[in-house]
Amino acid sequence: MHILSVPRQRLPTCILYGIIGALAVAVLSYLIRRVASSSRTKAPLPPGPPGEFLLGHLRVVPADAVFKKYAEWGREYKTDVLHFETFGTKTIVLNSLKSAVELLDRRGLNYADRPRFVMFEEMGWSPTLTWLRWGPKFQLHRRVLQPPFTKSKIGRYTGMQRKEALICCKGLIEDPANWLVAVRRCSVAIVLKIAYGLDVDGPDSPWISLAEGSAEAIGKAGAPASSIMDHIPATRYLPSWLPFMERLRYAHTWRSAIQKTARLPFQESLNQMKTMSKLDDAYFTHNRVAIFNENAKKGLSNDFDLEDIKGAASTILIAGNDTTAATVTLLVLYLMQNPDVQRKAQQEVDRVVGTDRLPTWDDVPNLHYAKLVLQETYRMNPLSPLGIPHASVADDVYEGMFIPKGAIIYPNVWAMLHDESVYADPFRFWPERYLDKEAGGNGEPLPVGNFGFGRRICVGRSLAENSLLIVLAMILATVDIGWPLGPDGRPTPFEPEWSFRGQAVVMPFDATITSRSTGLLTSIDEELRALENGKVI
Ligand code: HEM
Repeated sequence: MHILSVPRQRLPTCILYGIIGALAVAVLSYLIRRVASSSRTKAPLPPGPPGEFLLGHLRVVPADAVFKKYAEWGREYKTDVLHFETFGTKTIVLNSLKSAVELLDRRGLNYADRPRFVMFEEMGWSPTLTWLRWGPKFQLHRRVLQPPFTKSKIGRYTGMQRKEALICCKGLIEDPANWLVAVRRCSVAIVLKIAYGLDVDGPDSPWISLAEGSAEAIGKAGAPASSIMDHIPATRYLPSWLPFMERLRYAHTWRSAIQKTARLPFQESLNQMKTMSKLDDAYFTHNRVAIFNENAKKGLSNDFDLEDIKGAASTILIAGNDTTAATVTLLVLYLMQNPDVQRKAQQEVDRVVGTDRLPTWDDVPNLHYAKLVLQETYRMNPLSPLGIPHASVADDVYEGMFIPKGAIIYPNVWAMLHDESVYADPFRFWPERYLDKEAGGNGEPLPVGNFGFGRRICVGRSLAENSLLIVLAMILATVDIGWPLGPDGRPTPFEPEWSFRGQAVVMPFDATITSRSTGLLTSIDEELRALENGKVI
């Protein structure tokens, strides 16, 4: 319901007292923490813009494209580390790679915590690694989720990833007007299989809309840990129709979608397992449920119970689906906007693969330019421009600036990857920038930070990179991507729309996608049939 359509009514007295009480507690704890922290150290907090009386920076920090504003403030206050404060919660923004590497990587143990995500709790997430605070539960989930996605283990998924890349390109050729459906289908299929052993049957599979629902919920929820509930947890109990509680309304709107994403595929996976004589160790739920049952049979305790398995499996689906789809969408955009880059990358594929077969994993190491296209895509638009916030475990001092215990730490990856002193002309899509000067490039460093830092770095980064490389190779081999055609039948360039609330994503856009040669569909179908018959690639 739109807030303007809420009938005007007097606040019940108990709610009024509740609000006043919550604010009073917040102000008091703010003052106590301020006195305590100033007596603890002589080092000053990092600089930042002035806050407002009592509210601090609550209204100073914008909700939209905040990472750009942080970069601007960094220049204005001539600092790579900024400080903000709202009701006693201190936020530190790291605008430079140097500060992020020093604090989040080198002093990683002190920054392995996460803030409490009260808004996400309201959204109904079950225990998922991404949001878990530092402690035994986090260590347990990380210990269980990291091993299946190491470089040495992800080889077992490559056959399936290539098959999904083929299906994706078949979809692009068969239904180019709905190219985004093929991209989304591919991304969901890869992580759904790995997490649960389940298949996506077609573009209308219910698993796609389920995964998309929670991806949308998180993508537009605002920067994590930045809502009023995250600053004053008691406000989560206020009525959601209050004008300033729009993030609580948002959380409640998406609650059931998020809970379904955790529950339904897990339940389906359990049902399927009951009908199978042998579970497949490659799929996360199969592997963990087998261990769970084995322990139970032997009378051993299970530290990773069914709720944990459910939460961890949904992390793979949610963290791995939208990020991959959004990156492929960006690849399509940048190839469309940069026809010279597209042509050069296609020529490389034609040279390495030839034109009489489709790319395989043996080709990927030789696609040097395509890899730079992917790196440049990472740099141009990091999907999580402020990462996922870490939190400091103990007080620290960095270059004479005080970083208090419990501060929320945002690495401003966007600012790092658009730093003009590192990347010349940072808004230009130019994959050659990473080549040596002798090779026609500018010798710039590959982007760092879009998969996070330190002990919370993305566990799925190598898996994601494999998915993206094989999909990119397959796209380059099979289709041409151009601007959509206008009413006069000519290619019509346009500026796409973006969403910068929470994640940075390009909104759906039209493109002209055409098969690079006749007979490609037949080749793809033949490959898919061969895969069905057990051909190993
Ligand atoms: C292009 C694709 C991807 C991008 C850009 C991406 C990005 C990120 C980022 C920025 C973080 C936060 C790291 C930090 O806090 O420092 C993260 C965490 C995480 N990612 Fe990814 N990710 C991608 C794909 C995946 C995939 C495929 C999986 C599936 C296995 C995955 C699983 C996770 C998990 C479980 C975490 C939480 C780690 C923790 O809190 O300890 N991600 N990712």
